[in-house]
Amino acid sequence: MNKALHSCLGVARETAVLAVLKQTATPTSLDKISKATGLPKASIFSTIEHLKELGYGIVSFHSGIRLEETPDRLYPCEIAAGLDTKLIGRAIHYFESVSSTMDYAFQYANRGAPEGTLVVAEAQTKGRGRLGRTWYSPSYCGLYFSVILRPKLKLEKLGIITLLSGVSVCEAIKKAVDISVALKWPNDILIDFKKVGGILTEVHLPVQHMPVVVVGIGLNVNTPKSCLPSQAVSLRLFAKHNLKHLNRTLILQEILRCLEKNYFLLGSKKENLILEKWRTMNITLGEQVRIKTHFDILEAQAVDIDEDGGLLVRTAEGRLCKFVIGEIEMLR
Ligand code: BTN
Repeated sequence: MNKALHSCLGVARETAVLAVLKQTATPTSLDKISKATGLPKASIFSTIEHLKELGYGIVSFHSGIRLEETPDRLYPCEIAAGLDTKLIGRAIHYFESVSSTMDYAFQYANRGAPEGTLVVAEAQTKGRGRLGRTWYSPSYCGLYFSVILRPKLKLEKLGIITLLSGVSVCEAIKKAVDISVALKWPNDILIDFKKVGGILTEVHLPVQHMPVVVVGIGLNVNTPKSCLPSQAVSLRLFAKHNLKHLNRTLILQEILRCLEKNYFLLGSKKENLILEKWRTMNITLGEQVRIKTHFDILEAQAVDIDEDGGLLVRTAEGRLCKFVIGEIEMLR
């Protein structure tokens, strides 16, 4: 396993120092930073050196130091800044490159990582999608991350986690960059019927322990068209105001916030809201679809989802069937 690049203590210091530097465009004295952060000058000095190594453009003047450039990286100190969640993303493991954030998340979970732990990477060499597919994960272009959950849910209800994650991604993208995306059952995130992201939910069942669920989310954010498979798109292509580059950190933070809000609905009186929201965001229901599973191929009309996240379809003969797994193709 690669070593994560940041220690928690270091992240808190980096976050605090950066918060002060980002407040003003004029140089800030060490005294002022020390007063604002409560950190001794020696610690501020080493933090600044480390930030420079990470690629921050920090320039010294007689009167103090100034932040001139922030690198386009998903550093924990950037993600943690202003992230007001209670559970999701409170612990962050960041990597330049990993095989798959899913594998790392399960390793952290097996070692007792707290629920909500985020594993995020700038690139994946073996990013995976559902049904054995590859998830193309070029460096610094997209979001590739996994979140550890330990939901108190019956196994048959775990499908709801994929749906609530999809709802969260939709809500977050709308809020962060004002782009409308749609959901295709069970895990596709689409714009104009083309794939912009996907969700992979995997479960481990440790003996005598609660199931560990890892939700993996992949999103093409700034990925150039030339680097994408022909049926895929990236958010950047739909950005408002001709924005050439979207801030991945802001999008990730918003996804984590929305994920937490929707996750907390589980088991509450408002749990039904998850399904209601999904119904408004999906492009599957009402459509004639072809469903492929390992055992079967069926053509039918998608009519609804049930409280387990399963897809209900009606065949031409009027038979109602439920699918909890499978892939659908829209027949239009
Ligand atoms: C799909 O559409 O089939 C799901 C794609 C999920 C991709 C993400 S990227 C982060 C996490 N790590 C992986 O290897 N896969 C998921």
